Amino acid sequence: MPLPPGPTAPPLVQFAKWLRDPLRYLDGVYAEYGGMFTMRLPGVGPMVIVSHPDTIKALFVQPEIDAPGDEELKVLLGENSVLLLTGPPHKQRRRLLMPPFNGSRMTVWGQAILDMTESIVEHWRPGTRINVRDEMQEITLNVMLQIVFGDHGSDRRQQLRRDVGDRMLYGSKLSAVLPLWMPFLRPFAKGWQDSMAAEKACDDAFYAEIRECRARSDPEEASVLAMLCRATDETGRALEDHEIRDELMTLMVAGHENTASALSWLIYWLGTYPEMRERIEAELDGLGPDPDPLAVAKLPYLEAVCNETLRYYPPVMLTMRRLIREPVEIEGVRLEPGTKIWGSIYLAHRRPEIYPDPAKFDPDRFLGWKPSLFEFIPFGGGHRRCIGMAFAIYEMKLIIAAILRTSRLSLVDGQDVKPKRRTGLLAPDIRFEVNVDAVGQPATPPPQRIAAE
Ligand code: HEM
Repeated sequence: MPLPPGPTAPPLVQFAKWLRDPLRYLDGVYAEYGGMFTMRLPGVGPMVIVSHPDTIKALFVQPEIDAPGDEELKVLLGENSVLLLTGPPHKQRRRLLMPPFNGSRMTVWGQAILDMTESIVEHWRPGTRINVRDEMQEITLNVMLQIVFGDHGSDRRQQLRRDVGDRMLYGSKLSAVLPLWMPFLRPFAKGWQDSMAAEKACDDAFYAEIRECRARSDPEEASVLAMLCRATDETGRALEDHEIRDELMTLMVAGHENTASALSWLIYWLGTYPEMRERIEAELDGLGPDPDPLAVAKLPYLEAVCNETLRYYPPVMLTMRRLIREPVEIEGVRLEPGTKIWGSIYLAHRRPEIYPDPAKFDPDRFLGWKPSLFEFIPFGGGHRRCIGMAFAIYEMKLIIAAILRTSRLSLVDGQDVKPKRRTGLLAPDIRFEVNVDAVGQPATPPPQRIAAE
């Protein structure tokens, strides 16, 4: 089957380069082969990678190209995960999962996000350093747990937090992740076995939550779990426990680490360019001592900095896999059915004809200008577009606003912060720390009870 040209090194060598420094690898291959190339990794087969906006558009909208989801994730997320469903069941599940993370429902979470952030910042001590990724992950995991499970029982919550946290830890260990694509490694890889044990602990906790939620049967309960327990499909059938479990796992896996990675970069950029931090602080000051979360979300410069952060080092490097269903010609190459194709979010964001001087971190490029849905794709697009997109941007803005209002952080001298691959995610080096120069107390209203609409 003819495929676009690409590196000829053996798959294992390409894989080693990808693992060590994916951005350097992608930049190198792009320089040699242009915007459409085939890379080969062991266990995955030929991967066609594209980044031109017209091709990204084809990927997202063309009917000859399917969006089947990433099959390998079945063993972790379960076959009922929205990430793996296709066709009408996929559409229907998206319709079910989207409302809590969009529109008016989302705005209800605003004050809770501000409060949760401030309660983490309260523990920072002036004169010490914090590990940025750990702290951001703590905040985004707490937010996700609160939204998905509600706030029932703090002891149980702590245990759930530990179980989910342990499970996520294995997402960053190669010995736990490689066997996903190379199942023959599973019996030998200790990381894989440990990750399966952590998965089991998580499952037990999720099933206990599902049982209790069903027993409470509170029609007013606003958590995503309660909504899933109440949901029925078009035939009136309620979701079964194992289907709910798969979605809980999906939301935990898909819904906090990438936001934490984006926030870590945001802190890095604001430390690197204090004038940008001051511009955001001036916008926040304009909202008074007790800003409305919705007003924070509308601040134009804050929005521009968030967009540029997501452009520069997109937390997710590749879209999910697409599959050619019927022969189709893309960029002059005829692709046959069965060809697997991914959008490179990173390369799409580095095209100089769309983003002049792409290697410059320049939020002003987003002021008064909006890229198309195929030029700016941190959340993918088409049938698989991230269901948490609006929520993640909202969350980023509120968390950074709460941090800026309650603390003063600065970069540690001489620290070289480089992007590092963490499974498929791109995050700052795990050791990235900042100085806590000051911590203050803004005037905050008492936390609101989150009620169902
Ligand atoms: C900055 C944070 C985030 C980034 C960069 C991000 C990025 C992405 C990307 C690139 C995709 C694949 C889209 C495609 O292939 O076209 C995706 C899918 C998905 N994301 Fe996110 N995401 C973020 C936050 C979230 C949050 C907060 C949630 C939780 C609600 C979430 C839930 C999902 C789900 C469930 C899918 C699969 C959708 C489907 O298969 O239909 N994500 N995300």
